[in-house]
Amino acid sequence: MPTRTLPPPLTQLDRWRRDTPGCRERIHLNNAGAALMPQPVLDALARHLEREAAIGGYEAADEAEPRLRETYELLGRLLGAAAKNIAIVENATVAFNQAVSAFDFRPGDRIVTTRTDYPSNQLVYLSLARRAGVETVRADDLPEGGVDPESVRRLASHPRTRLVAVSWVPTNSGLVQDARAVGDVCADLGVPYLLDACQAVGQLAVDVDELKCDFLGGTARKFLRGPRGIGFLYVSDRMLERGAFPLFLDMRGADWTDPDAFRLADGARRFENWEFAYALVAGMCEAARYTLDVGVEGQERARSLAAVLRERLAKVRGMRVLDRGRERCAIVTVDVRGRDAVALELALRQRGINTSSTDRKSGVLDMDEKRASTALRLSPHYYNTEDELEAAVAAVAELAGG
Ligand SMILES: Cc1ncc(COP(=O)(O)O)c(C=O)c1O
Repeated sequence: MPTRTLPPPLTQLDRWRRDTPGCRERIHLNNAGAALMPQPVLDALARHLEREAAIGGYEAADEAEPRLRETYELLGRLLGAAAKNIAIVENATVAFNQAVSAFDFRPGDRIVTTRTDYPSNQLVYLSLARRAGVETVRADDLPEGGVDPESVRRLASHPRTRLVAVSWVPTNSGLVQDARAVGDVCADLGVPYLLDACQAVGQLAVDVDELKCDFLGGTARKFLRGPRGIGFLYVSDRMLERGAFPLFLDMRGADWTDPDAFRLADGARRFENWEFAYALVAGMCEAARYTLDVGVEGQERARSLAAVLRERLAKVRGMRVLDRGRERCAIVTVDVRGRDAVALELALRQRGINTSSTDRKSGVLDMDEKRASTALRLSPHYYNTEDELEAAVAAVAELAGG
């Protein structure tokens, strides 16, 4: 009998890639935009839609009740929280807005934030200034980049401070804010703390107790590898016990009990809206399960691939790495001298390499300080390979004429 050679055992990386159909098509370095969904996420989405078509949307939702319960539990495990402290919402922006709307701001009240918070969050601060006379103050950065927790302390000590809000990882760079140090400051001062963890969940370890945050918002589609159009909000017991609820309450969040009265739902559910994209929830459930299975190994790999990428890009002529701060993550941003990042992104896409571009509007203060009008953003995940990074660096170098 001829001897048969057995195929080599699958490595962890092989498994991750085998589970990721998109890996076969492209080099996907846009996980900070939307990561490639693994097969179990796709299957869950499709299965739920099929059930909606077969038996009806409301009936399929009833049938999916156990999975919905599981989604809260898995998200809770991912964040170090109990299921009852998790609300499922449409996206990270809605999570942020629901949390902010729980405060009855008066003219002269203060929000303390950073210089790199997400643009939509900045727009909410500006809107609150215009509509309600709320003052937003931005803490100073440390010389190496990243917010100075002592500056947060000085500003948040002001008696009118109602809220400290921080984007843990901004959208336009690989900076990781020292969210824990800010949490310590907020706990010392007794000021509520809202953390936008949209770019953090799936690539950084999250523990809401350690972070000492009162609200933490996120989305499924980024490093969590879920579908687009669904997200979540953690709400602390402290906030729930205080009776916090969103300004625009929905009938899932409360019962209309008498003509002029309502009763809030228990737990973070009071921050939810009645209409749910159940198929997306099913996808987010599987994404949370997959992320928990992959564990810290995947997070570390994503960040170390980014470190390699950053180092290699820094060596290309004409390339300026823009990421700052003590800690950096799986997002790499570069200014390619003389080249518009949007054009580069499109040229790379034509070669089968997905990246994204960011412009001044994504971070006015940060981009101005870096004297960059656009930046190319490359964000690997644990399923990427070193060969893919090499191919991307070579393509960027060629396009940049480096
Ligand atoms: C830091 C940060 N916060 C919030 C958001 C908004 O997330 P969503 O589009 O899910 O509302 C993003 C999206 O890129 C982000 O990068």
